Amino acid sequence: MSSVKEQVVPFHFADVGEEEAQAAAAVVRSGWLTMGPKTIEFEQKFAAYVGAKHAIGVNSCTAGLHLALDAIGLKQGDEVLVPTTTFTATAEVVAYFKAKPVLVDVDPVSLCIDPSDAERRVTAKTRAIIPVHYAGQPCDMEAIQDIAKRHGLRVIEDAAHSLPASYRGVRVGSISELTAFSFYATKTLTTGEGGMVTTENDDLALRMRMMRLHGIGRDAWKRYSAEGSWYYEVLDAGFKYNLTDIQSAIGLVQLDKCDKMRASRKAIADYYTKAFSTERALELPVVGEDRESAWHLYVLRLNLEELTISRSEVIEKLRERGIGTSVHFIPLHMHPHYQKTYGYTAGDFPVASKEYQRYLSLPIFPGMTAAQLEYVAENVLEIVKAAGR
Ligand SMILES: Cc1ncc(COP(=O)(O)O)c(C=O)c1O
Repeated sequence: MSSVKEQVVPFHFADVGEEEAQAAAAVVRSGWLTMGPKTIEFEQKFAAYVGAKHAIGVNSCTAGLHLALDAIGLKQGDEVLVPTTTFTATAEVVAYFKAKPVLVDVDPVSLCIDPSDAERRVTAKTRAIIPVHYAGQPCDMEAIQDIAKRHGLRVIEDAAHSLPASYRGVRVGSISELTAFSFYATKTLTTGEGGMVTTENDDLALRMRMMRLHGIGRDAWKRYSAEGSWYYEVLDAGFKYNLTDIQSAIGLVQLDKCDKMRASRKAIADYYTKAFSTERALELPVVGEDRESAWHLYVLRLNLEELTISRSEVIEKLRERGIGTSVHFIPLHMHPHYQKTYGYTAGDFPVASKEYQRYLSLPIFPGMTAAQLEYVAENVLEIVKAAGR
């Protein structure tokens, strides 16, 4: 067994503090703990921040994606295009409808969905495409919108990594018809668990607001408030997906800090990129000139032909030095469930399969100190130099 140092740099540490604690405590003291005025305020401010007409607070991005697919009327037997390099949530929501997530290979540079491979996989049953803005960088949205238009597909952006991010000057959240964000503990804005769906479309917004709270008609959450009524009507079999006021109060504080937190992550990314730029064994993330990344992740790729050790060994050596890392993602087609259910095999999707062998995600969070940052960069360099061919 190798010795493991106490963690010097965790993979992630949430940028929450006294202000968030006070905001959550104020809601607790108010006596109104579930969805209420704070959630409405959070939705309005979030919509304004990303430039969307509607923002619907939900208890996860997964719930948001599910509501979005419900709102477009996805049915059993339909197909939805999903990149294989993503978290299982992006595809599992399609299976909720007994529809098929059709996996798509990724672009070798951005690791976002490859539009041309997506187009090759369109069939008469394809209803939608879910581009994932991998690591925080927006996908090639022009190409995706073009495919969607030509084949009559709906576009639902998985923006779990990409707040705030923009494509050709337009904020993610106001590009496509539907966009789902995550406020999970490690995300760029966190409420512990939570999410938001944005849309310009009034009908979709109405449907998602209804379905996130049991399929009850307008303003179901108000039924216990002074202005609400005891009478309500159930209009469909909905879900329990609402965001609470405790979460929203934390979210409001986080939203105020969102630009500042993004600037910190960008500075960390710039530091890594400069530190690693002359090392042949390392390949650095590239952000397209027409887009801005949220820098949720800093995904480093190893030029394995320059090294005598594997990606997993690099991770283990970093762990021994007290540095937390992660891998985003094990492509979906390599997981037992997707192989068993849809017949994918480990060799499918050549780009995703190859890239998976050589990437790792380094610590990148706003509270990282200069000493921690230097420590990570120095150790990465030391490990790859010692293992150079
Ligand atoms: C790309 C992607 N999509 C969706 C999700 C699901 O987010 P949530 O945990 O808020 O449901 C995640 C979570 O890590 C993710 O990385």
